[in-house]
This record gives sequence, C-alpha cells and structure tokens, in this order.
Amino acid sequence: MILVTGGAGFIGSNFILDCLRVCDEPIVNLDALTYAGNMDNLSAIAGDDRHIFVHGDICDAPLVARLLEIHRPRAIVHFAAESHVDRSILGPAEFLRTNVQGTFTLLDAARTFYNALSVEEKAAFRFLHVSTDEVYGTLASDDAPFREETPYAPNSPYSASKAASDHFVRAYYHTFGLPTITTNCSNNYGPYQFPEKLIPLMILNALQGKSLPVYGDGRQVRDWLYVSDHCSGIRKAMEAGTPGETYNIGGLNEKKNIEIVQAVCTLLDELRPSADGPYARLISFVQDRPGHDRRYAINPSKIMRELGWEPQETFETGIRKTIQWYLSNSNWVKGVTSGEYQNWVQKNYVRRGGAER
Ligand code: NAD
Ligand code: DAU
Repeated sequence: MILVTGGAGFIGSNFILDCLRVCDEPIVNLDALTYAGNMDNLSAIAGDDRHIFVHGDICDAPLVARLLEIHRPRAIVHFAAESHVDRSILGPAEFLRTNVQGTFTLLDAARTFYNALSVEEKAAFRFLHVSTDEVYGTLASDDAPFREETPYAPNSPYSASKAASDHFVRAYYHTFGLPTITTNCSNNYGPYQFPEKLIPLMILNALQGKSLPVYGDGRQVRDWLYVSDHCSGIRKAMEAGTPGETYNIGGLNEKKNIEIVQAVCTLLDELRPSADGPYARLISFVQDRPGHDRRYAINPSKIMRELGWEPQETFETGIRKTIQWYLSNSNWVKGVTSGEYQNWVQKNYVRRGGAER
C-alpha cells in the first residue's frame, strides 16, 4: 500500500494511472480537491478497488494519522501542493499553509507512524517528497545546470515555500531518522495539466482563437520533461533511492518560452489548421511576471547514473502526444475551463494587457 497526496492533480494523477497500469499494489489518494484537483483525471480507474480516494487536507493532522494507522503504507509519495508561481504572487498565504504547514504535518505524522514499525517495516519504509528545480533560483545563460549540491536561492513565494518544505524533509531525516528522499524536477507537461500552465494554456487559447500571452521578451528558458518520465523517476527514487538523498530529474531539454509557443502553433497548424491562418498570428507579448527567473536547467546525471533512470520521450514526441491528448479530450477541457478558471484568466491576464481578443 502506498499513500499518495495530491493524486487528483496533474502529476499525481499521472503517477497513479501509470502505477496501476503496471502493478496491483493499492494506493490511498489523499487530496483536498482544490481548483487544481480533478476527479475527471482519474475517471479511467473509477470503481477500481486498488484506488482508495480520500477527500481531505494534508494539514489535517488527525486525518493523516488515522489514514496511516488504517492503511499502514510502505511509502508516502507527497505531491500535494499549491503549484503555480503566478498564483503565489497574487496570493502567497495558501502556499505557506499547504506547502510548508502541510508538508510538516505529513512528516510529523509519518514520524510517529514510523517509530512504531517493526525493524523490517522500518527498513522498507520511504517518505518521497516531490519538489522542484525552482528552489535553486535562476541561472545565467552560461551557468552550469543545477546539481543536487547547488545552493538554494528561491525567488518566488512558490519556490520559497517548496524550499522550506525541502528543508523540513531534510531535517526529519537528519534529526529523527525518517527515511526521506527528495526529488527536484524541472517543468513537466503532458495530459491532465491544468491550463493555467504555459503549454496547455497556449494550446487551449489557440484553439479558441484567443491571444497567446508570452510574458516579457519570451526568452526565459525552462527544461521540459514529459510527465510520465517524471513519474518513472519518482518510482525509481522510491524503490532504489538512498534515504537522506536528493535526486534532480530533468529531460536535458532546455527551450526558450517563445520556442515552446511556436512549436505548439506549428503542431496545431498541422493537426487542427485554422481557417484564419497560422496560429502564430495570435502570439502577443504581455507584461512580465514579477521576479521572473530567467533560466532553469537540470543536470540529471545522478539519478541516471545511480538509479538507471532515463526519459523515454523527446520533446518532439512528448509535445505531439500532449497536443493530440488535448484535441481528443474536449470534455475534460470543458470541465476545467468553466467557473473558477475564467476568474483566474481575468485576474492574471487583464492586468498584464493580455485581455482576450
Ligand atoms: P497541481 O497543482 O496540478 O496539483 C496539486 C494537487 O494537490 C491538486 O490535486 C490539489 O487538489 C492537491 N492539494 C492542494 N492543496 C492540498 C491540501 N492542502 N491537501 C491535500 N491536497 C491538496 O500540481 P502538479 O503540477 O501536479 O505538481 C505536483 C507536485 O509536483 C507539487 O508538489 C509541485 O511542486 C511539484 N512539481 C511540479 C512540476 C510541474 O511542472 N508541474 C515540476 C516539478 C515539481
Ligand atoms: O520548474 C518546475 C516548475 O515548473 C514547477 O515547480 C511548477 O509547479 C510549475 O508550475 C512550473 O513553473 P513555471 O513558472 O516555470 O511554469 P509556468 O507554466 O507557469 O510558466 C512557464 C514559463 O512560461 C515561465 O517562464 C512563465 C512563462 N509563461 C507562463 C504563462 C502561464 C508565459 O510566458 N505566459 C503564460 O501565460
């Protein structure tokens, strides 16, 4: 039994679906179903006894303790978080609560649970904390990519909250001996990503003939990884990683934002051409994100060398699969783009001068 937190979000749901495709080990999924949590992501396993969904908050200590006692997992895989940098700029408090207080609550409950395990159970137990490359801050164009030893220098409320959670995880290993492992991954993309993030936002805006809002000069660099490759890295780290260690995960795939948006436009021109002409006509440069990190890049050689992980998708294969998925899943898209999503679009883009056409 594995306890997953945040398993109704983008990466967590991909992780659960991938796991249950290859293995019958049951999964308890604790998720608060915030705006980012969506049971439609898990519709393929609706009614599957191997998936036990619990609607609840990771900050709820009695609930977390009860779940550990009842289900007695051999591992906790912790995805639950507030994950969007722009939202952390407009409302940082929730990031402190979920990402820091929530991670602390889980760690503390895990410590109590772990202490009462047998010697054999202790040896097998893992707390896998899913973190981000953003904790390392920003790189200049000629800097070497982030390594596990790169000093932390978070620049947004989101990355500061993730950095704080990483530090608590580290402290629980060193002080209490809880067998923790942290993964720090670069930008993910793929099916079920909420369209507040760059790639799905651009796909869906283009299909609706709306403007494609590129922040600043669009020359910021991100290191993109297809989501199932991130999930396989997490599984490797959980099964074979060394307690107390951290592993950077990335696809060796640095691209400027404008290149990503152009790639999305070109593929849509091929797969769903518009009568109004090439989608790139919709690109519009808008007011930049405050404190916008210029470049992220991951050196994944440790997880490749020590755990034998390597990504299966190139950017070309991954982005094609992703666009095809969004084109084939219009009901899912309809579900996530109503209601709260429209409020977010107004709040984030109108003030940037990126109001929809
Ligand atoms: P997401 O925003 O899509 O999903 C987050 C999930 O957590 C949602 O299902 C939400 O309902 C749940 N959640 C939020 N607050 C909760 C709470 N208090 N209690 C229980 N559940 C709660 O996020 P994602 O993109 O899937 O990211 C998952 C994890 O991976 C995060 O920790 C994020 O920091 C990390 N990460 C993300 C990326 C990326 O590119 N998306 C890259 C590296 C690391
Ligand atoms: O690096 C890992 C991180 O990647 C994760 O920890 C975060 O959870 C995840 O959200 C992501 O953070 P980013 O801020 O890099 O992702 P986002 O998709 O929001 O933005 C990617 C880049 O695109 C960034 O440089 C900002 C830019 N951008 C984004 C949006 C939403 C735009 O130019 N226009 C947009 O409308």
